[in-house]
Amino acid sequence: MNVLTIPCEGMPQPLRREINAMLHLAYRCDGEVSPDEALHRPELEARAFYLKDNGRLAAYASVFGKAITQQGRVFSLGSLGCVATHPELRGRGLGERVVVAASDWLRTCGRYDIAAFSCDAGLLPFYRRAAGWEAADVVLVANENENALRSDTLGKVVMLELLSGRARTAEPLFRGATINLDLPPGEFV
Ligand SMILES: CC(C)(COP(=O)(O)OP(=O)(O)OC[C@H]1O[C@@H](n2cnc3c(N)ncnc32)[C@H](O)[C@@H]1OP(=O)(O)O)[C@@H](O)C(=O)NCCC(=O)NCCS
Repeated sequence: MNVLTIPCEGMPQPLRREINAMLHLAYRCDGEVSPDEALHRPELEARAFYLKDNGRLAAYASVFGKAITQQGRVFSLGSLGCVATHPELRGRGLGERVVVAASDWLRTCGRYDIAAFSCDAGLLPFYRRAAGWEAADVVLVANENENALRSDTLGKVVMLELLSGRARTAEPLFRGATINLDLPPGEFV
């Protein structure tokens, strides 16, 4: 059972449906699942990482990216998102395996200056053990709106790594910083 990967854009419809249904279940979403909904906006150029168990989708994670501007300088930021394991298949290391594959790609694909995403504080040990992620002293803010989603008010910890040489050179811009993700209302990473 290997972790499989495919760009989200142009993904076969049966796989998209299976992922939407599993995420709906894993995140205990209300209401009906929207089976054909795009997993991510196309401009985020998302990539899917998934594991199947006996033909059934067992675990999923995605990597997607966008540009951010930090103190007037533009950087490409890549995120890990939609990490989930089918509720019946948890505790077997499947979540860890998709996180490892997605994290390796996020760090080494060469697309991104920075890796950043947030999670509940309780999940930090999971991400640390899976792929060495560590919490950073930064706040992610969805956009400039007064009521924008923020990692600190949501009680989330932020994982941040400076990947490219130019991001590492600009490290002081990110130390203790607030990073505006410039996302549409309702979206967060
Ligand atoms: C988080 C999740 C992907 C883990 O999947 P999994 O396949 O069970 O993960 P693994 O088997 O690789 O690792 C399990 C470890 O994660 C820990 N873990 C799982 N969910 C956790 C949670 N909500 N809070 C704290 N720790 C959690 C478990 O304690 C376990 O550690 P242990 O083996 O020391 O007991 C899965 O629980 C899930 O889909 N949760 C709902 C969606 C979600 O919260 N996604 C993360 C968004 S940032």
